[in-house]
Amino acid sequence: LYMTLSRICCIGAGYVGGPTCTIIADKCPDVTVTVTDLSQDRINQWNSDDLPIYEPGLDEIVRRRRNKNLFFSTDVKKAVIEAELIFICVNTPTKNYGLGKGRAADLKYVEAAARMIAEVANQSKIVVEKSTVPVKAAESISNILKANQRRGVQYQVLSNPEFLAEGTAVNDLLNPDRVLIGGEQTKEGREAVESLCWIYSHWVPRENIITMNTWSSELSKLAANAFLAQRISSINAMSAICEMTGADVTEVAHAVGTDTRIGNKFLKASVGFGGSCFQKDVLNMVYLCECLNLPEVAAYWQQVININEYQKRRFANRIIESLFNTVTNKKLAVFGFSFKKDTGDTRESAAIYVCKYLTDEGANLRIYDPKVTDKKIFSELTNPLMCEDPERVKELVTTYPDPYEAANGTHALVICTEWDQFTTLDYSRIYQKMLKPAFIFDGRLILDHEALMKIGFQVVTIGKKL
Ligand code: NAD
Ligand code: UGA
Repeated sequence: LYMTLSRICCIGAGYVGGPTCTIIADKCPDVTVTVTDLSQDRINQWNSDDLPIYEPGLDEIVRRRRNKNLFFSTDVKKAVIEAELIFICVNTPTKNYGLGKGRAADLKYVEAAARMIAEVANQSKIVVEKSTVPVKAAESISNILKANQRRGVQYQVLSNPEFLAEGTAVNDLLNPDRVLIGGEQTKEGREAVESLCWIYSHWVPRENIITMNTWSSELSKLAANAFLAQRISSINAMSAICEMTGADVTEVAHAVGTDTRIGNKFLKASVGFGGSCFQKDVLNMVYLCECLNLPEVAAYWQQVININEYQKRRFANRIIESLFNTVTNKKLAVFGFSFKKDTGDTRESAAIYVCKYLTDEGANLRIYDPKVTDKKIFSELTNPLMCEDPERVKELVTTYPDPYEAANGTHALVICTEWDQFTTLDYSRIYQKMLKPAFIFDGRLILDHEALMKIGFQVVTIGKKL
């Protein structure tokens, strides 16, 4: 196989494939990187001035490398034939049908990618599984490749999970805590691992590249996301106790987090975690445990999800209770719809659920988000998996390009995303134009509650009795 590489390709031009390959192209100027996708739309966007995803700092790097050693194309087969190493970065959503419905990861896109590689490859390839998958998925990929192998063609399958977070993808890729590579414990396996190490060693210190067996690598990714999600559910569980007792969750998080064994990151109480991965990957782990006949372990991780659902529901209930037990026909401004700040991604955003619970009660919502398009907001809120009456939702929900306009004439503001700009709005101005008593529900603990109360607002927040 290859120790140094000159051509690599990526299958899947999404949140992971796009940024990861852009950084590789930037750091490895002698390597030609082709990022492919079946979606012509997505590829057109990658080739335009308006990239399909918003990530601070990404535009500039794409512009610097595009059509030099970074290419975006729908010709997946051609790119695969030419590449020595292929990243599989396709989506692995939770299955919404059949066996394992609602829990297992759907591997149909990974399998399709593997079959396509086997169909067209006429020389040996290193196939790198970057998508997040259940343990032993690399073995399935390897089986598919080997069962369809042409003469003289050999495959090595590696696991190289991605740890970037959205909104900070560029920095996470440039300065990763670690790069993880799993491979077969054979001579060929180790050589393939070395080739991938060579790519990363262009910018990542060698001691930060961890290598291990494939299964450990696959499980480590699920474990890392499960631990992160568990921290959020743990602090959110504390927030419920705080609201009942007079303890303040921010103070508790600070006190707990200063223990260096625990650490202070990822202890921010919130309306609940969202994003395309935490829920999916924890459920994936739960399903794995059930399949392995480990029901106690499955139940342990399932509880992380249960607390998250509880938190979203609890926040919506507090809004309704505070507004005198009814929001029917009331106007509520919702600030923020993406699942976290600095991204336009709405997948599994807590805002979707909060909006759903409120529209189920007949509330009129006026939604403002600096990066999410109207189209996306409506497609999330009318998604048939959770919405029974899309016409009703369209009647109840309006989107606004400006937060002041959205708040005009409302009974309450609901903060669902921690966008920085929400902390610097002129709340006195907003207050003037709202109905009284004017409420603010801070689902992200980002506002100055004392100052808001001085203005006259009734403030309700997570994890603190005000
Ligand atoms: P995404 O949906 O943004 O992108 C996946 C892309 O793959 C889509 O554009 C889709 O059209 C394309 N695709 C699917 N099948 C294809 C095929 N056969 N050939 C060519 N293209 C195909 O997904 P994402 O957010 O980039 O996530 C990809 C994987 O990475 C998932 O397994 C996810 O769990 C994991 N991951 C995501 C993140 C994140 O922050 N989003 C971080 C770490 C890991
Ligand atoms: C997460 C992980 O952080 C990445 O390491 C991982 O690669 C990725 O999942 C993945 O596998 O997809 P991401 O979902 O992009 O990244 O964003 P996070 O910053 O982890 O935030 C996830 C959710 O948790 C957001 O809704 C965020 O608001 C919430 N959160 C985060 C909290 O409520 N409290 C916190 O303290 C931290």
